[in-house]
Amino acid sequence: MIDIKHLHVNYRGKPALQDVTVHLGSGFTAIIGPSGAGKSTLMRSINGLVPITDGDVLLEGHSIGKPGSAALRAQQRHMGMVFQQFNLVRRLSALDNVLLGCLGRQPQLLGALGLAPKADRAFAMHLLDRVGLAEHAWKRADQLSGGQQQRVGIARALAQQPRVILADEPISALDPKSSEQVMHILRSIHEDDGLTVIANLHFLDTVRQYATRVVALKAGQLVFDTTPDALTRELTRELYDHDPPAVQGAEPPVSVNQLASA
Ligand SMILES: Nc1ncnc2c1ncn2[C@@H]1O[C@H](COP(=O)(O)OP(=O)(O)OP(=O)(O)O)[C@@H](O)[C@H]1O
Ligand SMILES: [Mg+2]
Repeated sequence: MIDIKHLHVNYRGKPALQDVTVHLGSGFTAIIGPSGAGKSTLMRSINGLVPITDGDVLLEGHSIGKPGSAALRAQQRHMGMVFQQFNLVRRLSALDNVLLGCLGRQPQLLGALGLAPKADRAFAMHLLDRVGLAEHAWKRADQLSGGQQQRVGIARALAQQPRVILADEPISALDPKSSEQVMHILRSIHEDDGLTVIANLHFLDTVRQYATRVVALKAGQLVFDTTPDALTRELTRELYDHDPPAVQGAEPPVSVNQLASA
């Protein structure tokens, strides 16, 4: 599905990813690693949000295009993004936010939401129902709880009818109960719909419970690629340089940047 080949990403000449080669197939891949490891950068390079310095990212054999290119826009249509801070349009209803997904999320279409085809409205409504929010469809996004906003975010990503869902720390801003609801939905997206789900996750218990595969990054390099049951204490201690965060509510891992500046 997604082939990452000898990927290098530099920010102002400083490497954030170095020679990462990995194939991400169907299922639920968790990307883990300490703060600053390059997890978000990997996610953004898959979706073409950061320029690739060297190497390549291919979606079903097609190279992700250069920023701003028509090729990239075509690839991005197949990838739904879910964000840590939800990134909804706050003054729009839950339903309109999902409709934005149907319309390819083009801001210039905002004014055309009222004219969205009936079939799109019905589909958006169906997706809200799927994430358990049908009764909140007409509420403004900023009147929803964080967990509800994230479920709208997932419905919006699904409205695009993508092949891949990329979720950068989808539950970091949520309480345990909302996190569980979000993780259940993400699981159903790969189990029931057969989409590829890729998520950056901080808590290893969540990884063990939901992921089918784990890719670990440290200091911009791929350090292991394994199954969740192979995540031994030794492996994770080495990754985080100390005991990793197991369950939500525990301290997040100390950032390598913090360690460096301590
Ligand atoms: N826009 C940017 N400009 C310059 N440097 C950046 C930028 N984004 C990230 N970096 C640097 O690139 C490295 C990787 O960052 P990235 O955000 O991918 O890490 P991460 O694993 O997602 O960390 P976290 O767990 O804290 O979210 C870090 O050293 C970071 O400081
Ligand atoms: Mg990150």
